[in-house]
Amino acid sequence: MTPKQLAELRTLVETASVLCDDESLEKYSHDFTEDLRFAPAVAVLARTTEEVAAVLRFATREKIPVTPRGAGTGLSGAALPVHGGIVLSLEKMSRILEIDENNLMAVVEPGVITEVLQNAVAEKNLFYPPDPASRGSCMLGGNLAHCSGGPRAVKYGLTKDYVYGVEAVLPTGELIKHGGKLLKNSTGYNLSQLLIGSEGTLAVITKIYLKLIPMPTHRALVLAPFDTLNKPAAAVAALFQAGLTPSACEFMEGSAVDAGCRQTSQTNPFPQATAMLLIEVDGFNQVEIDRQLETLATVLERFGAADMALAESPERQAQLWRLRRSLGEAVKSRAIYKEEDTVVPRYELPTLLKCVKEICAEYGVASVCYGHAGDGNLHGNLLKENLSDQAWNDELPKCITRIFEVTRDLGGTVSGEHGVGFVQRRYLPIVYGEAEIALMRRLKTAFDPAGILNPSKMLPDPK
Ligand code: LAC
Ligand code: ZN
Repeated sequence: MTPKQLAELRTLVETASVLCDDESLEKYSHDFTEDLRFAPAVAVLARTTEEVAAVLRFATREKIPVTPRGAGTGLSGAALPVHGGIVLSLEKMSRILEIDENNLMAVVEPGVITEVLQNAVAEKNLFYPPDPASRGSCMLGGNLAHCSGGPRAVKYGLTKDYVYGVEAVLPTGELIKHGGKLLKNSTGYNLSQLLIGSEGTLAVITKIYLKLIPMPTHRALVLAPFDTLNKPAAAVAALFQAGLTPSACEFMEGSAVDAGCRQTSQTNPFPQATAMLLIEVDGFNQVEIDRQLETLATVLERFGAADMALAESPERQAQLWRLRRSLGEAVKSRAIYKEEDTVVPRYELPTLLKCVKEICAEYGVASVCYGHAGDGNLHGNLLKENLSDQAWNDELPKCITRIFEVTRDLGGTVSGEHGVGFVQRRYLPIVYGEAEIALMRRLKTAFDPAGILNPSKMLPDPK
């Protein structure tokens, strides 16, 4: 960006912060994806929709790449400014505009931290369920960009299931509105849903309409240890077949739990376990909880759960959830890593897990797995550990390709909730054919004719 362009940009935004010193830009040069870093020329922290529009209009005219950004907690590199240019941060657009108790809807700006909204609605006995592990710092705009999930998705659905309307700015600067506080809307293309999961490549979301539901009053959490990887993975589908709908059903390899315990200064309650399931049930009375716990115990025993720890107190539940949420960071602190986010139909989870372990062993790559087992969503962390740089760089893409091909063959796909972003886009042709990718390219061009919005994300480079 030239000094002249920068000077003009400053005149376009009155209340936004425009940062271009190295120290301020450091934060905007990375997200939570591996150790990747790309310096932007400038970061604009917009405060209004008009400022978002002004920045985009200018960028389209000047052909300057713009990378939209929320909290930067993403794991696929979608917020990395890989071509420099402008980082357009929505972090200052952080107002909860309305909690509408009459319609059970919230209207928010994209920079609201997910947990802040959850706490605000909980005060009114309402529930906004999507709860990515980073919910204490991630932002709703980013949650929409990736269609974030988290543990409770298994019962309550993903971010997309709560979004009923958006306002967004196109790269040309035009404002578009779709939906609102409407539970039904069969009027034209569903632009809200199209923007969800589009990773900031089509438009910048500036206002969001979210559905709320009543907050369950009762919860119980069970931690069950197993002596093999297969038994817990196989128990998961059986739980659902037995009629249970847990509000979370998480798989954790023993070594992931060890790392999480170290990270959160807890004692591992089952240090000998090869793997564990963390299962939550919720409802509106104790009878409902007890009935679910009974079914749970029967099924888990059938699959050889050696023991079971019931966490009834909110304090113990919070402690176990802290442990679960720490796993990503804890596992990665062990070594250079690559995290995968494969998802398969639930019943295929044991096969996926077995294949991941076998393929990694073949390539000499250490792996630690955990994930949202109830959704068939496995986070496989591949660790460099003792591998040489050359083996890591040359063999890892082959290892990942094999894992993704197996995932596809099981009816799955390469990302359940982290998105494609920058780091997975080369693998997209494993799961999509030329027709799908060409259509996605045409959609991208329709929204962003100048190609300035989050370029080199999601779609592979054209051949
Ligand atoms: C989790 C994040 C990494 O499940 O998706 O912890
Ligand atoms: Zn996850």
